[in-house]
Amino acid sequence: MFEQMRFGMFVHWGPSSLLGSGEWVMNNRNIKVNDYRNLIHFFNPIAFDAKEYVALAKNAGMKYITFITRHHDGFSLWDTKQSDFNIMNTPYKKDVLKMLADECHKQGIKLFLYYSLLDWTRDDYPYETGRTGKKTGRTAKSDYNSYLQFMKSQLTELLTNYGKIEGIWFDGHWDQTNKEGEATTPSKIDWKYSEIYGLIHQLQPWCLIGNNHHINPIDGEDFQMFERDLPGENKAGYSFHSASTILPLETCQTINGSWGYDITDNKYKSYSKIIKLLVGASGRNANLLLNIGPMPNGQIQKQFVDTLGAVGKWLAKYGETVYSTQGNIIKPQDWGVVTFKDKVAYVHLLESAKSDVVELPGFNFKIKSVTGFDDNVKVKYTLDSKNSKLLLHTAKDKNQIDKIIKIQLK
Ligand code: GLC
Repeated sequence: MFEQMRFGMFVHWGPSSLLGSGEWVMNNRNIKVNDYRNLIHFFNPIAFDAKEYVALAKNAGMKYITFITRHHDGFSLWDTKQSDFNIMNTPYKKDVLKMLADECHKQGIKLFLYYSLLDWTRDDYPYETGRTGKKTGRTAKSDYNSYLQFMKSQLTELLTNYGKIEGIWFDGHWDQTNKEGEATTPSKIDWKYSEIYGLIHQLQPWCLIGNNHHINPIDGEDFQMFERDLPGENKAGYSFHSASTILPLETCQTINGSWGYDITDNKYKSYSKIIKLLVGASGRNANLLLNIGPMPNGQIQKQFVDTLGAVGKWLAKYGETVYSTQGNIIKPQDWGVVTFKDKVAYVHLLESAKSDVVELPGFNFKIKSVTGFDDNVKVKYTLDSKNSKLLLHTAKDKNQIDKIIKIQLK
């Protein structure tokens, strides 16, 4: 089940990586469609190794990979018959998605596919009403019905030729709305989601549908995502919508600052920061989908590999406090979060102590024992059942990433 996995790898990669300036480079530099298409002649990812990608994710403790199949630049990273702008027409000439899908299935990692609803290169995409990709030189009148048919044909390929797909991750809806946070954000076009979602569930009934539309879930969606923020937060300015209490949740974040490869981006998040994000997500009942943007040749830079390795080591020891747990039973607190599994509550002290008492409001359980996860030593506590409050007499010291207290419930 989706929410049991808790940790996944997002991969943003394609010919845009060649320009070393993030996956929005076409839009940001106003590159014309004809000029951008030249990238097809020299996108040649000779160092791409599906086996390595999957092994890297596994060693990091990740349970799934969400792979960009087609981003806003319209390039398809698989052998599609619906467009020439695809991996088979590069000097590389190999279906990277096929290699990755086979390897995921072999190594037991679940595969999700990112698919952009927005397109900066096609004439039939309704760019006239869009917010982005306005200066890529398109003049022909758009035709959403033709574009919808194109998307359906592509999705049919993706859900027919690559074995079991666990989910489709849509993005780009916001191109047709006002800026997030404005009073009303109706879409300027009717995407006909019921047709798209219906097709997906018909081809692979188990396939989960999520849409990074930055609004409340739409009928037919199976999980809800938050971009660069934990559910309930809105630091990045995309998440004015509230967290669903019904659907499983996911937060996506970058390992440095950008999604696609950016040669000047060295805002690397430390492994402790990533652990805190992951635990923070679990405590809010959400998965963390952590992105890497491989280099244009397909190689994954050392900084990412090292960080992922360190996170994997931590999870090898503390994974039981994260995987298959439930969050949000006790609301996130200043000091950290609580995750629950079976008859155990794991208290995660993520922030340095302001006092030597940790307060858990809304605690309505009977306690069998309270011990430190690392040392098994008893922790003193006061249970105020009348006020549903538990006080733990303990504190986290500065250099600990996450001090975990295990509460065995009756
Ligand atoms: C945004 C960006 C996109 C990225 C996505 C990942 O929607 O447009 O480039 O793929 O976030 O969450």
